[in-house]
Amino acid sequence: MKRILVLCLILLSFRLSAQNIRIATQHTSLVYRVNQEGRLVQQYFGPSIAPALADTASKGQQEAYVTAGMESLLDPAIRIVHSDGNPSLELKYASHESTPQQNNNVTATSITLKDPVYPVSVILHFETYFKEDIIKAWTEIKHTEKKPVQLTAYASSMLHLASDKYWLTQFHGDWAKEVDMQEQYLTTGMKILDSKLGTRANMQQSPMFLLSLHQPAEEESGEVLAGTLAWTGNFKFGFEIDEHNKLHINSGINPYASDYTLKPNEIFTTPAFIFTLSSKGKGQASRNFNRWALDYGVLDGRGPRLTLLNNWEATGMDFNEQRLVGLFGGTKKLGVDMFLLDDGWFANKFPRNADNAGLGDWEPNTTKLPHGLGYLVQEAEKQGVKFGIWLEPEMVNPKSELYTKHPDWVLRLPNRAENYYRNQMVLDLTNPAVQDFVFSIVDKTMSDNPGIAYIKWDCNRMLTNTWSPYLKDKQSHLFIEYTRSFYKVLDRVRAKYPHLPIMLCSGGGGRTDYGALKYFTEFWPSDNTDGLERIYIQYGYSHFFPSNTMAAHVTNWGHQSLKFRTDVAMMGKLGYDIKVDDFSPQELQFSHDAVETYRRISDIVWYGNLYRLVSPYKENRAVFQYTSDDQKKSILFNYLMNIGKNDVFATVKLQGLDPNKNYRIREINLFPGTHSYFHFEQLYSGDYLMKEGLQLAGHGWSLTSNIFEITAE
Ligand code: DGJ
Repeated sequence: MKRILVLCLILLSFRLSAQNIRIATQHTSLVYRVNQEGRLVQQYFGPSIAPALADTASKGQQEAYVTAGMESLLDPAIRIVHSDGNPSLELKYASHESTPQQNNNVTATSITLKDPVYPVSVILHFETYFKEDIIKAWTEIKHTEKKPVQLTAYASSMLHLASDKYWLTQFHGDWAKEVDMQEQYLTTGMKILDSKLGTRANMQQSPMFLLSLHQPAEEESGEVLAGTLAWTGNFKFGFEIDEHNKLHINSGINPYASDYTLKPNEIFTTPAFIFTLSSKGKGQASRNFNRWALDYGVLDGRGPRLTLLNNWEATGMDFNEQRLVGLFGGTKKLGVDMFLLDDGWFANKFPRNADNAGLGDWEPNTTKLPHGLGYLVQEAEKQGVKFGIWLEPEMVNPKSELYTKHPDWVLRLPNRAENYYRNQMVLDLTNPAVQDFVFSIVDKTMSDNPGIAYIKWDCNRMLTNTWSPYLKDKQSHLFIEYTRSFYKVLDRVRAKYPHLPIMLCSGGGGRTDYGALKYFTEFWPSDNTDGLERIYIQYGYSHFFPSNTMAAHVTNWGHQSLKFRTDVAMMGKLGYDIKVDDFSPQELQFSHDAVETYRRISDIVWYGNLYRLVSPYKENRAVFQYTSDDQKKSILFNYLMNIGKNDVFATVKLQGLDPNKNYRIREINLFPGTHSYFHFEQLYSGDYLMKEGLQLAGHGWSLTSNIFEITAE
């Protein structure tokens, strides 16, 4: 009898494990099961759930990857038109496997689904990062029909959520207004966040969102799903609330104008949708993302980062060798690691003196730089600083030798007038000859001048009026092939220069995604470096990206003090883009000291846990706290913005400290000749700082800022 019972239990557990597929991180479970029709349905998605509980089947469970043409009323994850014209797909469970990887923190699970009639298979891939609570989801689509099929929808992931209410936060903007956070209550029907802009895909909409359940997203409480697509191109997130108030989220490449002809045996791989589910608000979601990015998402996430002096704001394209060498002195005076030469250094027949000429002709301009880049690298070395260079290798000005020599390398519509944006056009990167060219620009610049220590890779226009001479009758592959080709070039760059720091820039923050950040060490969030406005911009990006990936330069934008602008830049990857020679002796002293201070505290700002204590969207101030993992050090950034007479500021409760430790608080980064208005001389327990908090606005005037170093004793 006992034996039979044991056997039954074994059989039962076998049945459970065969039917339940668990995608699990430390605090999240995503459970799938196979229903009676043999289809894969999402059984559960939410905070961690015990295996036994997850077996309870309930009605109305949606398919994991809803197909078009069958009975579902939802916006489908996938739509295929078979070679015989049949526009439907049925997916049934075939098999699955799970493989632990990398110290058992990462687990890869794949679930294979097959159409019972047509030879089409879809593999749902998941990669879980247990400690970080991050899940990556993507798919592979394949068929062995005799002729090609048409793919007209191909999401990376589909998730189903059940709540009473849903709020969606998008990160929307424009040039110099990137990632403005806008939250809305979702009503029945469809809300789409997307981009159709191709190259400069995120100029308006960034590929990320926060979805809050039950109530608007709070910083440290509530259930929040944070998601982003690792794709440097058109993306689409669809949020559909059905008649039962269930929410269905499709995430992936935007299929807009991108029907894809899939040949037999060709594998269509969708990019990863990366997400985390937090039951402790937006704050925990960001900390999950930031941690994951440092260890897995960004190239050399925990590697060194160079502080720098850039010349774009200071000189524009109006410089020559002498002037540049003169500026190297500023680099040295500030104590930053590197001088970064921006746009305007190249092209001879059509010299790059303005943005209407020269793009594509990557030879140093002999009038401005008679001794070439090598001379500048050497001069920089002589002064003990490194040298970095700006490139925009995917683009061309019609006024260039490249355009004259290779008109067929340019994306443009036949029978239509050429369309310019910033006087430029985009090269047809889908053409392998153009890929060779773009790679050769990077390679030649680097091999001719081996001392170059850094590249800023720019991309100043989006795709419009576009047509590829290379793709001929496959124009609907252009958006997808462009991004794939971009990655092909970057693969080659990284094979040869694996650790060269490269900044991802796109006319400000037009490219900000984890598809690209595999290849880049940092990105340019915005050309807007106004201290006040940067608070919002960096606040927005901080939901998904760690500080060391966000280049932040002190410039002359904005009417705040140098101290204010510097304090803001010190929350990112610090740089300068300013005429150092115009600094007063105190300003120079302050900046030099700030660079030293930054070096000392950057470990905490880059790798620490971020707590956004006060949101600039809620009050006329902002407070950010970065705390080391061991809770021994914390850096607090405090900004008073344009304060009105009715502003009342409560004490600010700190977070992430050890309640049992005592902390010393010291204001740092003071401007020479000034003193701290705060009297935090005593020792404070972590418990007190987190329960009672600090009065940080007592002595405040508009547009003032402070940095506090908090150290356990
Ligand atoms: C746009 C970038 O965002 C700027 O920082 C600068 O590099 C210009 N392009 C140069 O053309």
